[in-house]
Formats: sequence, C-alpha cells, structure tokens
Amino acid sequence: MDLKETIYKRQSIRKYDKTPLGAETLDELKHFIDNADVLNPNINWSYDIVGPENVRMLQRFKSPHYLLMFSESKENYLQNIGFIFQQVDLYMQSKGIGSCWIGAGSPKNYENPNPEHDFVIMMIFGNPQGEIYRELSQFQRKIICEISDERDDRLMPARYAPSAANTQSWYFTHNDDGSYNVYRNKRRIRLNKKMDTWNQIDIGIALAHMYVANPDTFEFSLKRPHEDLKNKVFEGSFTI
Ligand SMILES: Cc1cc2nc3c(=O)[nH]c(=O)nc-3n(C[C@H](O)[C@H](O)[C@H](O)COP(=O)(O)O)c2cc1C
Repeated sequence: MDLKETIYKRQSIRKYDKTPLGAETLDELKHFIDNADVLNPNINWSYDIVGPENVRMLQRFKSPHYLLMFSESKENYLQNIGFIFQQVDLYMQSKGIGSCWIGAGSPKNYENPNPEHDFVIMMIFGNPQGEIYRELSQFQRKIICEISDERDDRLMPARYAPSAANTQSWYFTHNDDGSYNVYRNKRRIRLNKKMDTWNQIDIGIALAHMYVANPDTFEFSLKRPHEDLKNKVFEGSFTI
C-alpha cells in the first residue's frame, strides 16, 4: 500500500507483539526518516529508537520500540516535528508495522546525545497484535463543515489525520487564489497544559496528510496576510 492509501486505513496501535523488528526493517525505517520531507528547513531535529528500559509512560502499553523525537525549539518546530513524523507513521503502517503517537511519555535513564535539541514527543511501534488496518467507516472524525469554511473533498486527507486525544483542533479556510489557511482552535479550558503543545504537533500531522496526498504541488508558508478568526490561532497557509 502506498502512503496516500494508508491515510484511509491506518489506526493507532496499542497492542504489540513483544518480538522486536529485524535489523533490516529498522534500517529501512531509519532510511525513510532520514529522507522524510520537512516543513521548515531551518530547524535542526533528530531522533532515536530505544527500548522500553529507556522510557517512562503514563499508560502501560508495551511495545518493543520507542521512537524519541528531538528538535531545536524554534518558531513552528512543533508543526515541523508533526509533519516529519506523520510521514513516518504512514510509512510504518503502510509496511504493516503498528504505531501510535504518545504524548504522555518521556525518556528515562537516557542521555540525550544532542543537548541542543529538546525532547518533543515519542511514538511507540512494532508488529501489531491483531488487525492493523480499519475501514473508513470506523474512523471517528468531525464532519467537514466543523473543520472548514466550505465543503471541500480535497481536505479529506487532513480530516482523517490523527491528533492528540482525537481533538482535531484544525480549521481550514479558502482564499480567493485557491490557497488554504490553516488555524488551530484555542482551548477554552486548559484541561491539560500539554494539549496546546500537542495540538501544534497535530497541525503538522494534518499538513503531512495534505502533503502526502498532493506530493507534487504542496507548498506551505508560515507567514502570509490572513484574516484573524475569533478563538483561533493562524498556523500558516498552503497550496495543493
Ligand atoms: C500528538 C499526539 C499525542 C498522542 N498521545 C497519545 C497518548 O499519550 N496515548 C495514547 O494512547 N494515544 C495518544 N495519541 C493517539 C491519539 O489518541 C489518536 O491518534 C486519536 O485518538 C485518533 O485515533 P487514530 O490514530 O486511531 O486515528 C496521540 C496522538 C497524537 C497526534
């Protein structure tokens, strides 16, 4: 399956086979990550793949591998990490490898090899226990008019994107020149102070789906004249 088709099949996997993936599979994964496309080329980032002994997690999922993501904390670095590693999520799932973004976790007994990069978030992965794919009807997502100012099937890849606690806090508007603006819904109640961080990663994730579905035409720009919308934060504009 290619990455684009995987958008409509993938799901977060939380039950894993204990057996680690083979060295060749891990090498291919690293090769993919090293060549993934970025949203902002001015931000340095890095990653590491560790085992359960090097992570602390709030939830007690067990997976053989943990992908730790690190970045310089510069403007839109959270979007950038979401954008890069959602391509990785799709890549893994397209190969039958289960994965799940994990906000509620951090490295443990781990020395960051690159002190200029801060830990951002992680993803668990490995061979899934049970079915990896699902049908489109099994996705729980907002209807398109809740996430866009116009009904537009071209936004479907973003609509199906994963997000922290399935918050889907993205909102798209259409510009006269055919480009789109993307906004993030502000949270009224700060139930979890990390949610703002995760929701910025989510924007990058949704943009990754728009990119994977339109690889030849997708272009993102962080700063363009735009309308300010009430209770929303402007996150950038793109063409597809
Ligand atoms: C930034 C981010 C953080 C997440 N953190 C967690 C987490 O800590 N624990 C968890 O079980 N799932 C976590 N998830 C997975 C989401 O709950 C999941 O993507 C969402 O419910 C949609 O389901 P789907 O991925 O199966 O489409 C996270 C997802 C994202 C994008």
